[in-house]
Amino acid sequence: MAAADWVFKDGIAVVTISNPPVGALSLAVRRELGEALARAGQDDAVRAVILTGSHGAFSAGGDIKAFNSTDIEVRPYVKDLQAQIASLAKPVIAAIDGIALGGGLELALACHGRVATPRARLSLPELKLGMLPGAAGVVQMTHLIGPERTLDLLVSGRVMSAEEALADGIVDMVEEDALAAAEALARAVLDGGRVFVPVLDRPVPGAPFDPALADMLRQQAARKARGAEAPVAAAEVIAAACAMDVTAAVAFNEQRAGQLYGSPQQRAQTYYFKAERAARRVPGLPEATRPAGIAKAAVIGSGTMGGGIAMVFANAGIPVTLVDISQDALDRGMGIIARNYDTSVKRGSMTQEKADMARARISGTTDYEAIADVDIAVEAVFEKMDLKQSIFRRLDAVLKPGAILATNTSSLDIDAIAAVTGRPQDVIGVHFFSPANIMKLQENVRGTASSPRSVATVMALGKALGKVPVLAGNCDGFIGNRMLQYYQGEAEFMLEQGAGIEQIDRVAERFGMPMGPLAICDLAGVDVGVLIYQDRAKRLAPGNRQSPIAERLLAMGRLGQKNGKGFYRYEGRERIVDQEVVDAIAAVSAELGITRRDFTDEEIEARLFMPLVNEGAKELEDGTALRASDIDVVWVNGYGFPTHKGGPMYWGEQVGLEKVRDMALSLAERNGPRWGPSALLERLVREGKGWADA
Ligand code: COA
Repeated sequence: MAAADWVFKDGIAVVTISNPPVGALSLAVRRELGEALARAGQDDAVRAVILTGSHGAFSAGGDIKAFNSTDIEVRPYVKDLQAQIASLAKPVIAAIDGIALGGGLELALACHGRVATPRARLSLPELKLGMLPGAAGVVQMTHLIGPERTLDLLVSGRVMSAEEALADGIVDMVEEDALAAAEALARAVLDGGRVFVPVLDRPVPGAPFDPALADMLRQQAARKARGAEAPVAAAEVIAAACAMDVTAAVAFNEQRAGQLYGSPQQRAQTYYFKAERAARRVPGLPEATRPAGIAKAAVIGSGTMGGGIAMVFANAGIPVTLVDISQDALDRGMGIIARNYDTSVKRGSMTQEKADMARARISGTTDYEAIADVDIAVEAVFEKMDLKQSIFRRLDAVLKPGAILATNTSSLDIDAIAAVTGRPQDVIGVHFFSPANIMKLQENVRGTASSPRSVATVMALGKALGKVPVLAGNCDGFIGNRMLQYYQGEAEFMLEQGAGIEQIDRVAERFGMPMGPLAICDLAGVDVGVLIYQDRAKRLAPGNRQSPIAERLLAMGRLGQKNGKGFYRYEGRERIVDQEVVDAIAAVSAELGITRRDFTDEEIEARLFMPLVNEGAKELEDGTALRASDIDVVWVNGYGFPTHKGGPMYWGEQVGLEKVRDMALSLAERNGPRWGPSALLERLVREGKGWADA
């Protein structure tokens, strides 16, 4: 099949992008579109052109699979196709069904008019790939919706509905039969009854502009970027679109996009895009494995986590029943859910109508019999094994055969939970991150007995819930938290040696983490961290030590943010370092006989992040993670690791696995053998190889 089909009828040529599944603008598509537009220009019988998509997509834009290969550099580019449209003395109308993203949208915006179906979804998502729309997209959008909204649209990568696009004049009509409407529009243009002003000829809304606009946009972008270059470049191009003439602004748009394409950040983010998609695939499942459909769900425990998980199901259109031991507990949980929805509506992230519909899908019960017919039950109660086991016995007794019995545990042994049921094959972990209705990661944990069907079901469920699912093996902390202990542990070891509290957090935040490791301890609760330490201390092999600093803080009554003092003292949102904490840390150093010294930011960065890579390698080694890229997906979505660095494993490869190995050797000497290098890492270093050869 051709990549761009041509059908001609009654003076109108319908040119269809045909590149399933998403209509990416591959070289073949671009070439055939170029030929079709040329043919339309030369053929006098063609009076107008309709440009449309197929398989439920107009176009997902640039061909990501060809990024950083030579195909992408071969003409025609999208800008060449736009120039062809502009020079065609015949109307070209885009008929958009489904997605019009990136280059697909830029192409549509170069047409004379646009008709969308109600299913159309429009976006310029290039910043997620560490780049900019390069075919004038930033300038086009600025001319349509103004500078501030364009920046927000680009930085968030938000998807616009057909309705929103219509309200903003991005599309001219929304019609179920977009082809028929596009044809009518084309004829109206031909009859002289309809005149379209090209997008780039429209005045930028909001003009004239404050001369300080460029700085304001730049600062706004930099605040959100956490070190990513593309948002700042976007702000610069938007400012140019407001200040320069169109030709110069378009040239600047192309130039800035060209500078980002091929940059380390663009490569990291493109790697990451593929990583998320690879994570959905589970190797080794029998071919006949089919996921069970999930039409009804239950969540056990109506606390913060359980309530959040219930919202996730409800938001995805799946009716869900919350189960708790008392009506009081249920009422409290339902109250929190109601408040969360109110907040979403107030913030504008959800319409009142959607929130009401979602809330109506959540019901509550204290009676397990009431959930007998659900397809999945997710337990989300305290992290206590005997409590979880008693719940699983009850679930086993009431749930219909074939239902999935899932636990949201973040650390407990899935096998020990499964063992109390008569159906361990249906038991599996689905670990959501808090707040569950916001955080994207769904770490699915396969127990020894979990069946392929259970695995396939929770992986498919993740996608249906709008989450990013990753499969982990059953071990202490699974993929993410198992690594986290080394990151936070080393932060405290560095405090003992003389690094400053603020310095450590500043380095982590400048690296791109949303919050430094010590501020995170305060957020999670120093008491919570100490409980985990104390529990781990019982299992630590000889020769491994943990820092006593957090315990000291707890003894001083510093619980973290919840009582306004932990590693920091909190005044509103401001973090202030207290002298008594500095003194307490110095006392620990003295007791341990450690000579305090200054740290460079570089050393702190290496000592925080390299241990993550080493532990990740151990997870690959023992099968906890299926691929290095899965670990990156967990860290980006569950812990806020900056996408523009690709994830810890990708980052580790960029800085050099040899350095990571050397760091592990030196930390093992200081902190204990469990910090030592992974055998896999040592082998890869010896053989000069990377994760692809793991
Ligand atoms: N170029 C090439 N392939 C693309 C693509 C693109 N622009 N967008 C998606 N694909 C591929 C995916 O890699 C996937 O391939 P795979 O099955 O071999 O892994 C397939 O299309 C389906 O995509 P997937 O993301 O699994 O499906 P989805 O329905 O969840 O989402 C999109 C579809 C298009 C919304 C999503 O893939 C997306 O956001 N793509 C990026 C679009 C983009 O950034 N365009 C601008 C590029 S400059």
